[in-house]
Amino acid sequence: MKERKSLERDIKDSRFPPSLFFVYLVVLLLMSGIHTGLLVGMGRLGWNDFLQSVIPILYWAAIAVGLTLFTRRQIKKTYEEPMHKLADATKKVAGGDFSVYVAPIHTSDKLDYLDIMIMDFNRMVEELGSIETLKTDFFSNVSHEIKTPLAVIQNNAELLRLEDLTEQQKRYADTIFFGTKRLATLISNLLKLNKLEKQTIAPIAETFNLCEQLAECALNNEPAWEQRGLEFEACLEDYTEISADPALMELVWNNLLSNAVKFTEPGGTITLTEREDEEAIRVSVQDTGCGMTEETKEHIFEKFYQGDTSHSTAGNGLGLALALRVIRLYDFQIEVESEPEKGSTFTVIIPKGNKEVVPE
Ligand SMILES: Nc1ncnc2c1ncn2[C@@H]1O[C@H](COP(=O)(O)OP(=O)(O)OP(=O)(O)O)[C@@H](O)[C@H]1O
Ligand SMILES: [Mg+2]
Repeated sequence: MKERKSLERDIKDSRFPPSLFFVYLVVLLLMSGIHTGLLVGMGRLGWNDFLQSVIPILYWAAIAVGLTLFTRRQIKKTYEEPMHKLADATKKVAGGDFSVYVAPIHTSDKLDYLDIMIMDFNRMVEELGSIETLKTDFFSNVSHEIKTPLAVIQNNAELLRLEDLTEQQKRYADTIFFGTKRLATLISNLLKLNKLEKQTIAPIAETFNLCEQLAECALNNEPAWEQRGLEFEACLEDYTEISADPALMELVWNNLLSNAVKFTEPGGTITLTEREDEEAIRVSVQDTGCGMTEETKEHIFEKFYQGDTSHSTAGNGLGLALALRVIRLYDFQIEVESEPEKGSTFTVIIPKGNKEVVPE
């Protein structure tokens, strides 16, 4: 605190101090002195009227150009450049990067208010970074602690359901079992999300056959779509290689497929397509379900957002938030097309930029 007070005493009050008035006065007096000298000199030399009126105009024009350039340079150096740096840094912080640091413009003996603002900004970012780390660490520790007793409750509830129970006792056991199952899914999704959010470098990618993975995911979801009475169509290529973490990509396809099943009424159709062209591989999951309004579409990738409240008991609104994190991790893209009562199409675009070009 003391340090700060002594620092404040040393801070320059203004970037343009009042003493600048005297500098301007001297410069202007000098300029008009030269102007008068020019007029007198030209009169003595007997130059014609035309030259005598043009030369002073050229003289003042040159001074105006000089002053303009000087003022522009000063404003750029003192305000625009530091402000641009600060704006770039603020943008990074808004995107969740707390490793940002902006260097002050002057050394510690010549600080001004802009430097102080930059130093406070750096301190603020540092604080935010440590709060974020504390939050994620605390969160993942607590989640891990909850996981074990939850698994115990779930196992016991499952065993209880196998016992010879009365109707009412069975209902109670079922409620406990499905409640803990839902909670366990929530915790495991939150832990995955937390891990992905903390991940700053891309994980080691593996090359695998995407078509095979998609077919497997479709088969895993078969009981769900059959139970709901849905048609399922798949249009996949024979072999397409991609480079990513297979477990994370599986998470994306399972989320998209389970959403399509969940939000499509019996009798509807789900279509899984995988196409490859020169630029990208496109995987789309299309359904003829309830679709989404523009308002819902804007929020679906947010954590815990559930647009359709009639299905809110099934799930926690984390599926698409997780899918988006995975997609961003590999610089893939996701597009959503949807119309209420007509259906939705989610398309994941995997660019083929990293393929080697073999010269002919
Ligand atoms: N295929 C779809 N058709 C209509 N609405 C959808 C579809 N997919 C997602 N949505 C909307 O987006 C919201 C968020 O989806 P998300 O997958 O993140 O959560 P969820 O499916 O409700 O829960 P969870 O994935 O955690 O089980 C859904 O609640 C729903 O409103
Ligand atoms: Mg979902």
